[in-house]
Amino acid sequence: MDMNKRTFLKSMGALGLAAVPSAQALADWLAEYDGQPSDVLASDEVFWDGIRQGYRLKIDYINLENGYYCFMPLVTLDKFIHHVKEVNFQGSYYMRTVQFENKKKVAARLAEVVGCQADELIITRNTTESLDMVIGGLDWKPGDEAVMAGQDYGAMLEMFKQVSKRYGMINKIVSVPLDPASDEEIMDLYANAITDKTRLLMISHIINITGQILPVRKICDMAHAKGVPVMVDGAHAVAHFRFSISDLNCDYYGSSLHKWLSTPLGAGMLWVKKENIGNVWPLLAEGDLPADNIARLNHTGTHPVHTDLTILDAIEFYQMVGPERKEKRLRYLQNYWTKKVRGIPGIILNTPADPARSCGIANVGIEGMNPEALAEKLMKQYHIYTVAIDVAGVHGCRITPNIFTTPAELDVLVEALKNIL
Ligand SMILES: Cc1ncc(COP(=O)(O)O)c(C=O)c1O
Repeated sequence: MDMNKRTFLKSMGALGLAAVPSAQALADWLAEYDGQPSDVLASDEVFWDGIRQGYRLKIDYINLENGYYCFMPLVTLDKFIHHVKEVNFQGSYYMRTVQFENKKKVAARLAEVVGCQADELIITRNTTESLDMVIGGLDWKPGDEAVMAGQDYGAMLEMFKQVSKRYGMINKIVSVPLDPASDEEIMDLYANAITDKTRLLMISHIINITGQILPVRKICDMAHAKGVPVMVDGAHAVAHFRFSISDLNCDYYGSSLHKWLSTPLGAGMLWVKKENIGNVWPLLAEGDLPADNIARLNHTGTHPVHTDLTILDAIEFYQMVGPERKEKRLRYLQNYWTKKVRGIPGIILNTPADPARSCGIANVGIEGMNPEALAEKLMKQYHIYTVAIDVAGVHGCRITPNIFTTPAELDVLVEALKNIL
């Protein structure tokens, strides 16, 4: 290892609460890896140890539940605190002068990352706000139908139930197979649920309880051929694996940025294809704007603007690490442990075997053991923090590493599973 790397790791490793690695130190160190193939870097433990040193991690347990919230690396946290202080210094002056201009700039930068037009994207608080605004804001008529899956996120399913009670629309719920044989199997599943009354199809980009990635483009093409718009729940997709919204051919896309982009809590996005913006009634009314102006859907009232500002810093960190490197590392980590347990009688993997159908997230269960008991045993006996999932035909613990997770930590999980079995 050369001097620069060693000095960097030392300075990162010596981190106390007060010390924060500078973005420059991180940049200098990462520069040494410039041009190295991401396939090779995926298993380069020195590289990822450097990244790990940039986080403050609890020593009490191995954190394999990064799916709820991928907390910030210290460089981003430091910038967030700076924004809090600055807004607290400028007060109303900030709010009345540059607040909205800054939010627009953030949205424009985010649009570059997710591959869409800037005037079709808004910053929200989270996926729930983004997608529930669409579900609740469409003009439902009695007898209209919406199609979704039992494996979709609870908050959206609840919102559909509410609009069903309110407007007499009907929800049709399909069940996505845990290990599909082909994209066609999934497309057919949704196609068979569509009728001439279907007004909206909701799909998950990646199913949060199993980690299964759906063939979004193919499903959207199929639905559009039947005249049905598609809303995509991308809560776990942004900054997890690479994609471009413009390639998906969908109509609405929502995500939570406090998940894989590692922004502060309470940052999300909603993208709406221009021609659909006018179809949605805003949850909170915003003046008399043209029907195709996305700002119609972005009236929030006064809210923590420093969170919005930090999205830029989180994007900078993501770009520095490298989207391709991050995706490949996360897939490497997931395959690292699932390969060691897949096929062992009694161990059930609820994530597709085809590596192209998943990335960092996977779900594992033990035959005859309820997921709560498994999660409790993992935590109490092995100091591994996970989350139990016992819904929609999925019975197991969701395992979500992050880029600071080490193979050695995953070995502890593998050994624990074998012992519990
Ligand atoms: C698939 C999916 N959709 C939506 C959400 C809701 O995200 P948030 O609570 O950030 O709104 C989650 C959260 O885990 C999720 O996994």
